[in-house]
Amino acid sequence: MSHSQLTIPNSPFTIPPALPGPNGWEMLRMVRGLRDNPLPHLQQAQQQYGDVVRLPVGRRQMVLVSDPELVKHILQDNNRNYTKRGEQIQAKTVVGNGLLASEGEFWRRQRRLAQPAFHRQRIAAFGEVMVDETVQLLAGWQHGRQLDIAQEMMNLTLSIVTRTLFSATLDTAEMATVASAMPYLLRHTRPRIVRPRALRWRLPLPNNRTYWRHVAALDEIIYRLIAERRRTAADHPDLLGLLLAARDEETGEGMSDQQLRDEAMTIFLAGHETTANLLAWAWVVLGQQAAVRQRVREEVTTVLGGRLPTTADVPALSYTNQVIQEVLRLYPPAWIIMRTATADDQLGDYHLSAGTSVLISPYLLHHHPHLWHNPTSFDPERPRPAHKFAFLPFGAGPRICIGNQFALMEATLIMATIIQQYDLHLVPNHPIELETAITLRPKHGVRVVLSAEC
Ligand code: HEM
Repeated sequence: MSHSQLTIPNSPFTIPPALPGPNGWEMLRMVRGLRDNPLPHLQQAQQQYGDVVRLPVGRRQMVLVSDPELVKHILQDNNRNYTKRGEQIQAKTVVGNGLLASEGEFWRRQRRLAQPAFHRQRIAAFGEVMVDETVQLLAGWQHGRQLDIAQEMMNLTLSIVTRTLFSATLDTAEMATVASAMPYLLRHTRPRIVRPRALRWRLPLPNNRTYWRHVAALDEIIYRLIAERRRTAADHPDLLGLLLAARDEETGEGMSDQQLRDEAMTIFLAGHETTANLLAWAWVVLGQQAAVRQRVREEVTTVLGGRLPTTADVPALSYTNQVIQEVLRLYPPAWIIMRTATADDQLGDYHLSAGTSVLISPYLLHHHPHLWHNPTSFDPERPRPAHKFAFLPFGAGPRICIGNQFALMEATLIMATIIQQYDLHLVPNHPIELETAITLRPKHGVRVVLSAEC
């Protein structure tokens, strides 16, 4: 959408148009809507006011941006002006000052340090663990059984990230701790990020106590992984090994325990939950679309001929990969990306003041009717729009997801391994509903019945 600027005749000054957005009653209605059920209200705001919308959230100015060119400006071209408001996120949430939330030079150094663990060749070597963990999971399944495939995928991707990046395994009690902490923390962290200064986070209220009890339980696991590795002094060239071996160039000192904890916690959480959601949504779509499921199975049979997949098979599983990409479009697990402008900026026709929060929703971009033909339908063979920033499941620019190749390979190998052995049928009448916590999750899980592959 373009709004012409006001020009004063014979004057060098122009008055930029005001940011469009709700006012009066409409604004009050929107405040409640955004708090209780943000996604449909963001979608409505975009449909009503266009690709740059001023939103009412607390006392801060917040702007929703859904024009791919402006998204490119924020995440890539002028990314240094758009921070993650690191300190506030760190102070209030679980991941602390790890890669996801850190900023500036410090972030750059930590990202350089972690990068080798995600190098293409290193990731390729993880394929074996990904398939092995899937085979172990399948050993506990039986035909005719009903299960929550969303929770199964959570446990599986958690085991995979722990083995590949920490060279460790979790026991049953630890798996249960994570399974109970994650939904709670994901649900209760978003409001803490949106209103970081609210007094209510500092009061001794029961839900604050529950929140920090879950964080403490996760901390215990992370500190156990770190302590164990220190004790055995094993020289694993995985992510935890890289973090432990890192030395400050000037002082020669290693990372503090707190920083190690923050980095490890970030990867532990970011490295499993999003991929598990991607897979959960994939099983929903495959359950709904018998023809797509059949084509995936045919491809898997042709490429693998009954043997287990390896990393080398991934490029040949091209239709499976297209299905995964289309699931990422329809159900992007990272459905919202937030930044804060540190200085005034020009965003297309509009003036943006320093301090403004910017919201970019991959979900909205992926469903934008001007960018995609028939955006709500599932079509793995649909052409991509010309603008690269219309499809952003892993973000973009310097802060693009460090684990994107890891996740794509993992999803392909898991899907190929499972579909060879089982047909998953959605349990009729089990509600499938979007939950917009930090990530986009199936609110009531995904119940399926296992049957022999046909
Ligand atoms: C389908 C799976 C995944 C999705 C959809 C996803 C999505 C994203 C997105 C959108 C961002 C950028 C956030 C922003 O710009 O504010 C991000 C960052 C990040 N992701 Fe992922 N991710 C996935 C899997 C993974 C995996 C498997 C790992 C690690 C093993 C991982 C680790 C991270 C980290 C550490 C960052 C922060 C990077 C930085 O700022 O330098 N993610 N992810």
